Amino acid sequence: MSLDQLLAGKVLLVSGGTQGLGASIARAAAEQGAEGIVVTGRTPEHGLAIAAELTTAGTPTEFIQANLTSVPDARATVTGTIERFGRVDLVVNAAGLTTRGTMLDTDEELFDAHVAVNLKAPFFIMQEAIGHLLERRTGGSIVNIITMSQHGGQPYLAPYVASKAGLAGLVRNAAHAHRRDRIRINGLNIGWTATEGEDAIQRRFHGAGDDWLARASASQPMGKLGQPDEIADFVVFLLSGRSGVVTGSVIDWDQNVVGAHD
Ligand SMILES: NC(=O)c1ccc[n+]([C@@H]2O[C@H](COP(=O)([O-])OP(=O)(O)OC[C@H]3O[C@@H](n4cnc5c(N)ncnc54)[C@H](OP(=O)(O)O)[C@@H]3O)[C@@H](O)[C@H]2O)c1
Repeated sequence: MSLDQLLAGKVLLVSGGTQGLGASIARAAAEQGAEGIVVTGRTPEHGLAIAAELTTAGTPTEFIQANLTSVPDARATVTGTIERFGRVDLVVNAAGLTTRGTMLDTDEELFDAHVAVNLKAPFFIMQEAIGHLLERRTGGSIVNIITMSQHGGQPYLAPYVASKAGLAGLVRNAAHAHRRDRIRINGLNIGWTATEGEDAIQRRFHGAGDDWLARASASQPMGKLGQPDEIADFVVFLLSGRSGVVTGSVIDWDQNVVGAHD
């Protein structure tokens, strides 16, 4: 079975494609022959750099600036992709807000920000994309990046877990609702992953020094954190027809097993 060119002829929208896991997913999709890619985020210098990198390498790629705390911005990422490439076939919701907050110190503003970026934006991006796919009657595939923490998580992740657990439920609801439309919707509960965003979070909230990644890696069962390029390959597989009829699955993509003990 060839795993080359899994996304040939497909147009992909990646939220949070300006850095971290989303950028890795855009790169993996380009390697697998995507016809066109849109990356979104708030930061033009990052988004334009990824777009230029992939376009130069042969995959037409655009950056659409969007702040996902705004539903009109979220919707515009889908309509903008359709304007640029004539359609959208595949969507990845990778953008995420991971700012810390506990049950006691989270204020309404922080709670609302988590829900807006991690739950409301994916909801309306999927609504816009599904409406378009229904008009075209072509089916499609959507992958949502969730988190192992949605099983419970640390006390300092209260609003994050609330929003991501909502997203896991939404994956199952939307997948069931649209399975006969051949629109597959899945989610990945990824574990601790080495990204730019995680580096910033470790330094800002956990007093991490330059050696944090080496120490964190050594503490993990398999001696490393999740690697964005490995997750990206898995996401591309889930997006592609090679993953068959799989839908409504929220898959633990991690090296620790929920519910198991030594
Ligand atoms: N790294 C981990 O350990 C880990 C673990 C579990 C789950 N996750 C999940 O994995 C996904 C990717 O995380 P990452 O580690 O790659 O983080 P990252 O490096 O911080 O990237 C986050 C992405 O989300 C975008 N984003 C954040 N807030 C946004 C907003 N208001 N509007 C538009 N875009 C926004 C950022 O773009 P701009 O900055 O350009 O706006 C960036 O492209 C997230 O959903 C996160 O919750 C990560």
